[in-house]
Amino acid sequence: MNPFEGRVALVTGAASGIGAALATALQAAGARVVLADIDHDSALRQASAIGAEADAAVALDVRERTGFASVAQAVLARHGRIDYLFNNAGIAIIGNTLAMTGADWDRLLDVNVRGVVHGVEAVYPLMVEQAPKDGWRGHIVNTASISGLVPAPGFTAYAMTKHAVVGLSVSLREEARRYGVRVSAICPSVIGTPMADQARLLGDSVPVRDRVNGFARLPDADYCARKVLKGVRRNQAIIPVAPAAHIGWRLYRLWPGLLRPVTRRLADELAPMDARSGQRGAHDPR
Ligand SMILES: NC(=O)c1ccc[n+]([C@@H]2O[C@H](COP(=O)([O-])OP(=O)(O)OC[C@H]3O[C@@H](n4cnc5c(N)ncnc54)[C@H](O)[C@@H]3O)[C@@H](O)[C@H]2O)c1
Repeated sequence: MNPFEGRVALVTGAASGIGAALATALQAAGARVVLADIDHDSALRQASAIGAEADAAVALDVRERTGFASVAQAVLARHGRIDYLFNNAGIAIIGNTLAMTGADWDRLLDVNVRGVVHGVEAVYPLMVEQAPKDGWRGHIVNTASISGLVPAPGFTAYAMTKHAVVGLSVSLREEARRYGVRVSAICPSVIGTPMADQARLLGDSVPVRDRVNGFARLPDADYCARKVLKGVRRNQAIIPVAPAAHIGWRLYRLWPGLLRPVTRRLADELAPMDARSGQRGAHDPR
């Protein structure tokens, strides 16, 4: 059975990368997709590219609690229910933690943590209230990261936000199952999206992909979306995506010290000690 056919799916961060690939895969599987993004023009283009309904693209800044609630109500009014919420919008800031500013911490917390919380606040109660279909009422799928499961030096602040998303997801999952609402967290390793392509270390103007081995050969967003939808179909609590995520997570659970060679290398590559002064390159919009 195809659990996406005819279902209503709200995807945040749907204008680019993993969110755009999820929207494409959901649309292809017969879902009615709503593409929400802060970049409305790109969401409109993406909606048209995948043949979604004309009003499928909506402007949403996930940092806005009332904005998220309005979008959820509008989707409910338009489609009658929300079967899936993909809380996917997110940003990354990478580098030596000593170079982080207060504004950097706030931006990460606002988008990656509060943005997900706002989605849960807006949609979870609606799911609890709606009638079950095929034995469940709704499914919240939060985009975390492998850095939400294992140490990720250089991604330290980002990893904090993704650990929060995993904690929220696995805990809410146990509460929500009594109402017939499912909750999953997706945990990809690095995926070839604009986020990864354009990433730069704090204080550095060279793209990370030119500095770090392995960034040139990344799994793409369509692969990620396929793996995510497979995990969603199976109602997995945690959906690791790509071999690096599966291996890293298993090793860390088995014996955390086994990851030490990797984390030591990541610390050197992504949080170089000579970048701790906090000097920033011209690329940084701050
Ligand atoms: N690319 C990776 O390597 C990777 C790995 C693991 C997890 N993730 C996570 O996957 C998610 C998607 O990342 P991606 O790689 O597709 O990035 P991306 O930059 O390609 O896409 C992110 C989208 O989110 C939107 N967005 C940003 N801030 C927003 C806001 N405040 N409100 C609404 N929309 C906003 C952007 O406009 C963009 O369309 C993020 O949560 C990211 O942390 C990415």
